[in-house]
Amino acid sequence: MKIKNRHPVKALAVAVALSLGSLGVMADDKAAKPGPVVSGKEAVEIRRATFNLIGKNFKHVGGILKGEVDYNSVDVEKIVNRIVFLNDFLHGTFPEDSNLGEPQSKARPEIWTKKDDFKKSLKQFRENAQNLAAVVAKEKSNSPAFKEAAQKVAQDCKSCHDNFKLK
Ligand code: HEC
Repeated sequence: MKIKNRHPVKALAVAVALSLGSLGVMADDKAAKPGPVVSGKEAVEIRRATFNLIGKNFKHVGGILKGEVDYNSVDVEKIVNRIVFLNDFLHGTFPEDSNLGEPQSKARPEIWTKKDDFKKSLKQFRENAQNLAAVVAKEKSNSPAFKEAAQKVAQDCKSCHDNFKLK
């Protein structure tokens, strides 16, 4: 759904109504999405906040891969599950009108000119994060399988940033 040329005050009222609406149905399964994105600017805020949290959490995994952080199975399980959960918030946060450029956003225009490639990267990231969570739940240690699954996710961050994010 695309809403264009709205009066700013009306747009704000709609945004407030929509966000209150989604609070009201919090217990509903269908509300497990980031909520309706009402403007490009808001989409940028949601994706940046989400990537910021993904980054803060993944740092721990990166530390383990580098041998700088000890593997604690309770912490690692919590962290990788958060990354899977946070992944969900990215959906719908790259609408056309969120191609704002710097300084608001570091998203490259290629996200919208090579849409299929970008979608593939996002999908691969989600699948590899889910795989990492499954491996962590099973292995519960800094095993070769953990390292391989974690490295795949790290590679997803890097390749998507190389292709679709400004430095
Ligand atoms: C499918 C593409 C893609 C993947 C995969 C991806 N990122 Fe990003 N990331 C982006 C884009 C695009 C931006 C810029 C968003 C913007 O500024 O609008 C970004 C921004 C960020 C930011 C800056 C957030 C801020 O505060 O503005 C961090 C930190 C980050 N990513 C970390 C990660 C980590 C860690 C991973 C892997 C676990 C990862 N990203 C995976 C595309 C991706």
